[in-house]
Amino acid sequence: MRNGIFITFEGPDGSGKTTISTYVADELAKMGYDVIYSREPGGIDIAEQIRNVVLNPKNTAMDAKTEALLYAASRRQHFVEKIKPALENGKVVICDRFVESSLAYQGYGRGIGIDEIYRINEFAIEGWLPDATFFLDLSPEAGLGRIETRANKDRLDQESNDFHDRVYEGYQEVLRRYRHRITVIDASQDVEAVKAEALRLVLEKVQND
Ligand code: TMP
Repeated sequence: MRNGIFITFEGPDGSGKTTISTYVADELAKMGYDVIYSREPGGIDIAEQIRNVVLNPKNTAMDAKTEALLYAASRRQHFVEKIKPALENGKVVICDRFVESSLAYQGYGRGIGIDEIYRINEFAIEGWLPDATFFLDLSPEAGLGRIETRANKDRLDQESNDFHDRVYEGYQEVLRRYRHRITVIDASQDVEAVKAEALRLVLEKVQND
């Protein structure tokens, strides 16, 4: 049975998800909540190995459907090994990216289609969608500007501006579909303001659940 609370952070590359989600998880832990932090693709060994394949800049020949299946495969393992048991044990799970990333990046960015991508992910996650998702809203241009100086850009970071624009559009579609459980946070604000807003919103969710 699902007793815990499943919270995910989403957003374009460079939107600050990792900084914000780790901050929120640390603060909740300090307050005494039983928190599990994770990320996708990855979070556990097998999924991290798949991450290395899917994000390796050398893999320029990767087919879009192969990419979609690899993300779904890594999600399946992560879900079974870490997410599902944590939720069954009543924990607060904070995850940096989950299925909405696949809907936006592979469904829209790669043009495979959101419904098609949802179907393969449904097989992986058996309908266990997040209870609440926080979308860190930042224009793709601003996001890419922030990661421009990163030394190790992964295969997806290196995609064209058009691709990142489509991903952003894809997220807008995902927001419409799941508006009942996705909250938008303005990620163009100063980082301390984003941290404070994210923590307040997550606490509201956790306390009212
Ligand atoms: P990260 O930079 O947030 O760690 O994510 C790695 C990249 O993988 C990022 O460009 C987004 C992309 N991604 C997808 O395309 N589909 C997915 O399902 C996930 C989880 C990530």
